[in-house]
Amino acid sequence: MYALKRTFFIVMSSLGIIVMLAGCQQTRYPVDHEQLSGEERLVIRFSHVVGEDTPKGLAARRFASLMKERSDGYIEVQVFPNSMLYKDGEEMEALSDNDIQMIAPATSKVTSIVPEWSVMDLPFAFDSYEEVHAYIKGKTGQELISKLDQQGLVMLGMWDNGFKQLTNRDFPINEPTDIKGLNMRIMPSDIIEQQFNLFGASAVKLDFDNVFQSLDEGLIDAQENTMSNITSKSLHYRQEYMTVSNHGYLGYVLLMNKEFWEDLPDEVRSLIEETLSEVSEWQQEIAHKLNDQELSKLEECNCIEITHLSDEEKQQWEEAFSPVYDFYRGRFGAKNINSLPKIKGGNKE
Ligand code: LMR
Repeated sequence: MYALKRTFFIVMSSLGIIVMLAGCQQTRYPVDHEQLSGEERLVIRFSHVVGEDTPKGLAARRFASLMKERSDGYIEVQVFPNSMLYKDGEEMEALSDNDIQMIAPATSKVTSIVPEWSVMDLPFAFDSYEEVHAYIKGKTGQELISKLDQQGLVMLGMWDNGFKQLTNRDFPINEPTDIKGLNMRIMPSDIIEQQFNLFGASAVKLDFDNVFQSLDEGLIDAQENTMSNITSKSLHYRQEYMTVSNHGYLGYVLLMNKEFWEDLPDEVRSLIEETLSEVSEWQQEIAHKLNDQELSKLEECNCIEITHLSDEEKQQWEEAFSPVYDFYRGRFGAKNINSLPKIKGGNKE
């Protein structure tokens, strides 16, 4: 770490001298970081929609604090949690306009700009986190990432949240047909919409920060989310029943504005990449732990009735949802599905 700081110092000093020799009034990268004013720091604004003590919130804060420490205060990552700066529907545009420089939306939300990403929303597509990460590192994942790049977005990593569970107000959901007639809150993804419409539910695309209030006012009956998202927003206090179905993965793509990224000095880019790779490893561990922990808490709280799907029931659910795969194939071809680790009728990567 000392070597990195030293290199930073040397690069910053050299840049300072070059710029001064060129006759400029002020260096772009001052050398004495302790004395920097707000304007002289490199500020990266990172906006997200969940609470601070969630897998994403915790990792964003850790990233910010490590960047500050490792750049001697030169790089300041300002984290804005809980949709305080931009809501779900706004943050992608704010990133493109460089009003913020970093976001970490759920994969379901990037489908608004690269619809093929909805492959990640296919029900029961992944059985484990390892499968998800292997898929993203594989050929299809890399193609999906390059489609983001074509939209002016650099993907700097992937963070986990967890697998989604179903909650409902009035009765337990034991079979897919039980969702008939329910108003279900979903994230904005056509595949998730298909998943629920298939069994006669009304899928309602709603921003995350509106879910509690919409449940409270009875505008929606049910929803799907990870354990930590359910408990951190107290959604279980407005729902009587939960089905532990693990029917879909919810994880995040770490995105930075491409122009901003390409403008950064190599040294800064390397520091960001190294730090994020370390934080991502840590993040995945705590995400898995936190979701297990929140499930145990709900199992003990007597505040919601919990049903666990057996392996046999899961198998039946999976078969029942197979038309959603046909829907995806119809729109984007079979390629991305065939390379799912689960081998839904295709070859492994
Ligand atoms: C949701 O909208 O339910 C989630 O995407 C929120 C999040 O960022 O985890």
